[in-house]
Amino acid sequence: MEKQQKSSHLVLVMLPFQGHMTPMLQLASILHSKGFSITIVHPELNSPNPSNHPEFTFVSIPDKLTESQLSDKNVTGLVWSLNKTCAVPLRQCLEKILHSHHHIAALIYDTQMYCAQTIADDLGLPGITLRTSAATTLLLYPVFSQLDEEEIKSPELQALHLQRLRALLSQNPAKEMMEIRVELTNALKSSLAIIVNSMEFLELEALSKVKQYFPAPIITIGPLHKVAPAICSSLFTEEDKCISWLNKQAPKSVIYVSLGSMASIDRQEVIEIAWGLSNSKQPFLWVVRPGMVRGSEWIESLPNGFEESVGERGCIVKWAPQTEVLAHAAVGGFWSHCGWNSTIESICEGVPMLCKPFFGDQHLNTSYICNVWKIGLELQNLERGNIERTIKRLMVDMEGNDIRKRAMDLKEKAAFCLVEEGSTSCSFNGLTKHISSASE
Ligand code: UDX
Repeated sequence: MEKQQKSSHLVLVMLPFQGHMTPMLQLASILHSKGFSITIVHPELNSPNPSNHPEFTFVSIPDKLTESQLSDKNVTGLVWSLNKTCAVPLRQCLEKILHSHHHIAALIYDTQMYCAQTIADDLGLPGITLRTSAATTLLLYPVFSQLDEEEIKSPELQALHLQRLRALLSQNPAKEMMEIRVELTNALKSSLAIIVNSMEFLELEALSKVKQYFPAPIITIGPLHKVAPAICSSLFTEEDKCISWLNKQAPKSVIYVSLGSMASIDRQEVIEIAWGLSNSKQPFLWVVRPGMVRGSEWIESLPNGFEESVGERGCIVKWAPQTEVLAHAAVGGFWSHCGWNSTIESICEGVPMLCKPFFGDQHLNTSYICNVWKIGLELQNLERGNIERTIKRLMVDMEGNDIRKRAMDLKEKAAFCLVEEGSTSCSFNGLTKHISSASE
């Protein structure tokens, strides 16, 4: 890959949630390795630790989020508020940077920090958006109302059940959500390029539809975690003890269970999951994030007798080094909430999935996994008998073998994107040229 001149300076604007911060930092590392100098502007919430990234300049801007907003855990409300409160400090921060540097080559912002595009337009800067979810979400959220039956005739789009997803997303049409959709669409339409942490072959038909709607080039640069040097971006402390536990398990025997950084469950659900895992008789590595079980600090709500029944067969941690876990030979399945990062990370290791989506794009990703790529099974409900049966279908039954084979095929295709002439390498070269020519 080609190197840029060190003088090219990029400013990246972060959305302060784990699943968004990690790909933004990965993108920053890659662009830095190509010769760009990097400033990362971020709200105060979940501030990244600058000492983990001495090569970047970090600038924190006030977000004015209140305790009640934070404890409410309403992601839509937080995104809406962040765009309102961060707009003025972001503008001031960019003006200050412009005074001290000759120029900013581009402003790269998380798609959900859409206020950045208006500021970029006003200051005459090229604005580039990073979508950290599937490219197909660009069809779902902003252009949704224009998608009618006629347009969804292609097999891939039909298999996604877009109407079902449309209904799910419209269940709670808060005023904030409506405003976000409009603003986000406007920003996408003004941006110079739309970068997506995806791979062309994963979303071929949806991508061609996306390209009809947006004038800017759609640049698929995934899987970012495979291109970027290993970076520390976790907001939680990783418990490495699970790796020595995995080392003692048989190949492909372990089901890894993680519901990402935001989803939560209630006490009855944790009891059902615990017995489902126990009764499945498979070894399991279970991430129970502190606060994930509503009304509990950590694992106090686990049922009596559970620990005795599983003994050494189970390992519970607060946070795992997930990419390392998925690459481990002992892991044979991933029970996931199907956040996009988890989905991509699982694909890259050829690990078949058990899907239990909670909100937003997780339903879309589940449709891709189960209906389009056919590399996983959907867990219809959190009832212990159903959990036990579905784990066995994936991990033990013949059905699981076919799913595993398809997952391995996708892993190979993903690896192919990364070779020198592969699509990801080409996209990165295209992106750096694009930035350079826009800023001339
Ligand atoms: C959120 C939304 O839930 C998701 O729908 C959207 O696609 C992105 O933002 P999140 O819940 O954080 O995502 O899930 P995901 O996108 O899968 O990202 C989680 C990240 O945390 C992954 O990179 C994963 O490797 C990491 N992780 C998770 C760990 O490192 N350790 C863990 O124990 C769990």
